[in-house]
Amino acid sequence: MYCVKKINSDLYWVGASDRRLALFENVYPIPRGVSYNAYVLMDEKTVLLDTVDRSVSDQFFENVEHVLGDRRLDYVIVNHMEPDHAATLAEVIRRWPEVKVVCNAKTVPMIKQFFTFDIDSRVVLVKEMEMFCTGRHTLTFVMAPMVHWPEVMVTYDTTDKTLFSADAFGTFGAINGNLFADEVNFERDWLHDARRYYTNIVGKYGNQVMALLKKASAIEIKTVCPLHGPVWRENIGWFIDKYVKWGSYTPEDKGVVIAYASIYGNTENAANILASELAERGVKDIRMYDVSAAHASEIISEAFRVSHVVLCAPTYNGGIFVNMENLLHDLVAHGLQNRTFALVQNGTWAPVSGNQMRKLLEGLKNTTILEKTVTLRSSVKDAQLSEIAELADAIAAGIKA
Ligand code: FEO
Repeated sequence: MYCVKKINSDLYWVGASDRRLALFENVYPIPRGVSYNAYVLMDEKTVLLDTVDRSVSDQFFENVEHVLGDRRLDYVIVNHMEPDHAATLAEVIRRWPEVKVVCNAKTVPMIKQFFTFDIDSRVVLVKEMEMFCTGRHTLTFVMAPMVHWPEVMVTYDTTDKTLFSADAFGTFGAINGNLFADEVNFERDWLHDARRYYTNIVGKYGNQVMALLKKASAIEIKTVCPLHGPVWRENIGWFIDKYVKWGSYTPEDKGVVIAYASIYGNTENAANILASELAERGVKDIRMYDVSAAHASEIISEAFRVSHVVLCAPTYNGGIFVNMENLLHDLVAHGLQNRTFALVQNGTWAPVSGNQMRKLLEGLKNTTILEKTVTLRSSVKDAQLSEIAELADAIAAGIKA
């Protein structure tokens, strides 16, 4: 049976949620599920904006067919070719053989790579700010390369001031009845997943996100329809402000993430002592993560949120303990900037993890790495207590500055 949400007189949400999938992109845990949003605009011409992941295709087609009723589908706009939104494109063509595919020039080769249907005979190529009239509505298109793939564009309905924003302004989390962000407590219940989604999926492409935000700032936006998560029609500026922070790698909060690896608990002990010393100095926002227990996507997300990141790791196989090394590669791959890092290393006979962590972090732009690495020889002794206290002094001073 169909499960459709009406957004306004002409626009319908025809997406669906997946609460079974354990790992989004086969890597990111999504305990709250995920929605794949698609939209149908009912005008003199009928327009489908994007499709969905294969996993929810049955629900999606029931929804689209219900909204169309006895009308045919005239156009499908492809804003993004990643299969979580385009996997069912071939089935759309099969069901509505006369449908035209509206997309930009970068999208066509991707369609050919993923599918075998004849795109050349049905494509309507659009360019930046080209106008596309469907009757009462006039749509236009804004290219958004690398937010999150090179072919990405967003579609703007100039009539209703609705932005179909592709992956931008999306979030992990299934839609639980309430489609609109103003119907839920987004800051309490969704922001964490929105940040984890943004930072892990798009975090590397801050410059491109800022370019899109600059273009978006020139147009009036009343509604934002992303490809994942709630639709925005109120307080959009609050969410845009989050995007400005994330896209520009500006910390949201003056706080500390302590990510530690510990084999027998001794490095963890140092991390706990450091956290306690920071608390003594009045630092309120301290989050600790065992890199062998917490998923890297959680730590990446928190590292984007706060101003200071402490990494504590034993030496292992003459290098960095493996889970910490993986986290570091992930951090560097996501291009985090404008942070202060501090390091704690441990080694029973040859501690080298600190230097190796430092080398990896040196690949990050606009980053400060505190000069003094605290070195443990197996476990914390009195000599290290003063070093940890000095590290806490430096971090606390940075936070208060
Ligand atoms: Fe939700 Fe880049 O796809």
